[in-house]
Amino acid sequence: MAEIEPHIFVILGATGDLTARKLLPSLNALIARNALGPKSLILGVGMETEFNDASFRDKCRQDLAAANIPQEQIAQTASDKRLFYQTTGKGTPEDYEKLGQRIEQLEKDNGMPGNRVFYLALPPKVFPLAIAALGGAGLNKSNGWVRLVIEKPFGRDLKSAQELNKVVHQSFEEKQVYRIDHYLGKETVQNLLVFRFANALFEPQWNRDRIESVEITVAESLGVEHRAGYYEGAGALRDMIQNHLTQLATLTAMEVPEAFRADAIRREKVKVLHSVLPIRREDVVLGQYAAGKIDGKDVPAYRDEPGVAKDSQTETFVALRLEIENWRWHGVPFFLRTGKRLASRSSEIVVTFRRPPVWIFKPFDVETIQPNSLVITIQPDEGFDLYFEIKAPGQGVRIQQSDLRFRYSELFPRLPEAYETLLLDVLQGDATLFVSDDWVEASWRLYTPLLENKPKVVPYAAGSWGPPEADALLSDLGRTWTKT
Ligand SMILES: NC(=O)c1ccc[n+]([C@@H]2O[C@H](COP(=O)([O-])OP(=O)(O)OC[C@H]3O[C@@H](n4cnc5c(N)ncnc54)[C@H](OP(=O)(O)O)[C@@H]3O)[C@@H](O)[C@H]2O)c1
Repeated sequence: MAEIEPHIFVILGATGDLTARKLLPSLNALIARNALGPKSLILGVGMETEFNDASFRDKCRQDLAAANIPQEQIAQTASDKRLFYQTTGKGTPEDYEKLGQRIEQLEKDNGMPGNRVFYLALPPKVFPLAIAALGGAGLNKSNGWVRLVIEKPFGRDLKSAQELNKVVHQSFEEKQVYRIDHYLGKETVQNLLVFRFANALFEPQWNRDRIESVEITVAESLGVEHRAGYYEGAGALRDMIQNHLTQLATLTAMEVPEAFRADAIRREKVKVLHSVLPIRREDVVLGQYAAGKIDGKDVPAYRDEPGVAKDSQTETFVALRLEIENWRWHGVPFFLRTGKRLASRSSEIVVTFRRPPVWIFKPFDVETIQPNSLVITIQPDEGFDLYFEIKAPGQGVRIQQSDLRFRYSELFPRLPEAYETLLLDVLQGDATLFVSDDWVEASWRLYTPLLENKPKVVPYAAGSWGPPEADALLSDLGRTWTKT
């Protein structure tokens, strides 16, 4: 692991939910395992003028305690030598100049070389203002390195993403920018690259000759919870498909990069998106949850959730089919599916292999056996299952399916939180697990026509696997979604 240079980690939006629930606990975990190097300061920045260094530390201590972090770790993280607070008020140029002065003072007091991370944990509509204000105050450069981390969502369609990229590039070079998709910080997602490119066993099978289809599911059993204000204007296409599921699809489909290097990996991922055919409306199913039962409990319809319009047309479910028109994947459908209030919480990639081309075990019909499949579970129980056929003991041939199973939890006592991994990568200057400007635009280019002319939203019962129409997407394969 590369040594982390002395730095100051500036969080804009430090009084918000993301900071309390993810960023602080992840920074705390990194501090607790001495991963942040000899000198690491955190400067929380918020609009609130009522906080000062001391009261902000108190707030952070409470937030960390609420995350069940031991007191001795809390004392180390929220210490008066490490954690500070600065207000930006309404965010005028003078406010940002004051922020710059505070950073310089902290650096001077602590003998720091000027390495700075600016983490935008702000509402998306504030991103352009904050980025321009950082640039306006000259905070886009320093005597050391400056890195800008931008939370999701990055734009809400192609035009807004292009505009945001333009604002970013007016002040920051692309190599300074780290766009977050926290799915990329998950161990199993990163392991996809190792699995594919460190094992000569699988790569020769990874193509249209051997693979029949790929299914990518990110299912939630929770409903919209307290996020209706945001979700009503977003929907599952923007919230999940354009970013997380499409990231998983590009990692699954990409060619072998020339090296395990950010630019090489990012280039191959973008090439996949450029090969995806325009999505046909008949290959998309949008759904919205109606009332139903989850874990035996009645749950309300989406339209009856607080903050949701009674006639809302927002989709809480999407299933769609992508066709990647390149030599490796021609004719292999990639099915993407996500939804709220589904039967269970699970994220997985199912790679279904073709059946044997010649079948010798007659009178068994080849169609009666399950095809080989590889199931990559991203959550909740991270691991892999490789399903294959075996002979059941006894006379004659009886074929049944068995699996080879790997679970991270059986081998490793603790997996780092995705944010822990990503924050450390930012501090090391490794952009491999972040979203590039061209990827984000290529992805929006694919989905914007659908967003502008959305297919009809159909209802599904909470606690089900979505509307029955979603099964029809796989009808030409003579089956429905794989049940694992
Ligand atoms: N929360 C999550 O679990 C989560 C997960 C994934 C991604 N994200 C992303 O992370 C970002 C932050 O989310 P959040 O849930 O933490 O939001 P939040 O709770 O609403 O907090 C936003 C922060 O931004 C500040 N803020 C609001 N308007 C501002 C303005 N005009 N100028 C300067 N600061 C302003 C808020 O300050 P005040 O407190 O003073 O209003 C607060 O500190 C969003 O982009 C979100 O999409 C969040």
